[in-house]
Amino acid sequence: MRAVLLGPPGAGKGTQAVKLVEKYRIPQISTGDIFRKNIKEETELGKKVQEYTTSGRLVPDELVVDLVKDRLQQEDCKNGYLLDGFPRTISQAEQLDEYLKERGEQLDAVINFEVGHDTLMERLTGRRICKVCGAGYHVKNIPPRVEGVCDKCGGELEQRKDDTAETAEKRIAVYEESTAPLIDYYAKNGALKNFNAEKDHSIVFEEIIAALGE
Ligand code: AP5
Ligand code: MG
Repeated sequence: MRAVLLGPPGAGKGTQAVKLVEKYRIPQISTGDIFRKNIKEETELGKKVQEYTTSGRLVPDELVVDLVKDRLQQEDCKNGYLLDGFPRTISQAEQLDEYLKERGEQLDAVINFEVGHDTLMERLTGRRICKVCGAGYHVKNIPPRVEGVCDKCGGELEQRKDDTAETAEKRIAVYEESTAPLIDYYAKNGALKNFNAEKDHSIVFEEIIAALGE
C-alpha cells in the first residue's frame, strides 16, 4: 500500500495513520513529526525549520522534498508507506510523481479528509501529545484515562506549540491557499478518495479500510 494522507491541520491524519500503520504494516512518514523531532534534538535541520513550523508557515519545498526522498529509500519502505503531511504544495506533488516514476511505483490512494473550519479549530486547540512517546489525545474527543497523563506510557501530556488559536487559524489559511489545490491535482490522476472525517475516528477508520481493501 502506497498512500498519501491529505487534509487540513487537525483533520485526523495522524490519528488515522497510527491505526493504518498497524493494519497494513507499512511505515508512517510524517514530515511534521520529522521536523518536530529535529527541533527537539536541536539538529541543523531543526534550526532551519523551527521558525516556519512554530509560526504555521510551510517549510520551503527544497528542505522537504530531499528529506522525503531519503526516507523512501530506507528498507522499511520497500513494500509501501503512508505519507502524512506530504506533499503539501503542487511543486512537492510534481517532484514526488517524478521520483515515483523513477522508482517504477505509483500511489494506490490519496486519502482526502474533509472537515469544516470550526471542527478543525476545536480539534487543534484541544489536542494533547505525550512528551515521551508522542501518542495523541484530545481533551474532550479522545481523552486519556487520567487527565494530563499518557495511557500508553504514563508520560506527561503537552500542547503542540503551533496549536494556539492564532497559529491554528494561520495554518488553516495556509492549507487553503497552498495545499487544497492538491485535491484537484489528485482527482485528475485518479488516486483521490474522499472521506467525511467529521465522523467518530473509529468510523472514519472503518470507511478508509473499506475503500482501500485488505
Ligand atoms: P504537521 O505536523 O503535518 O501538521 P498539520 O498538517 O497541520 O496536521 P496536524 O498534525 O495538526 O493534524 P492531523 O490531521 O494529523 O490531526 P490529528 O490526527 O493530530 O505539520 C506541522 C508543520 O510542519 C506545518 O505547519 C509546516 O510548517 C511543517 N510541514 C510539515 N510538512 C510539510 C510539508 N510537506 N511542506 C512544508 N512544510 C511542512 O488530530 C487532531 C486532533 O483531533 C487530536 O486531538 C485528535 O485526538 C482529534 N481527532 C482526530 N480525529 C478525530 C475524530 N474523528 N473525531 C474527533 N476528534 C478527532
Ligand atoms: Mg499530524
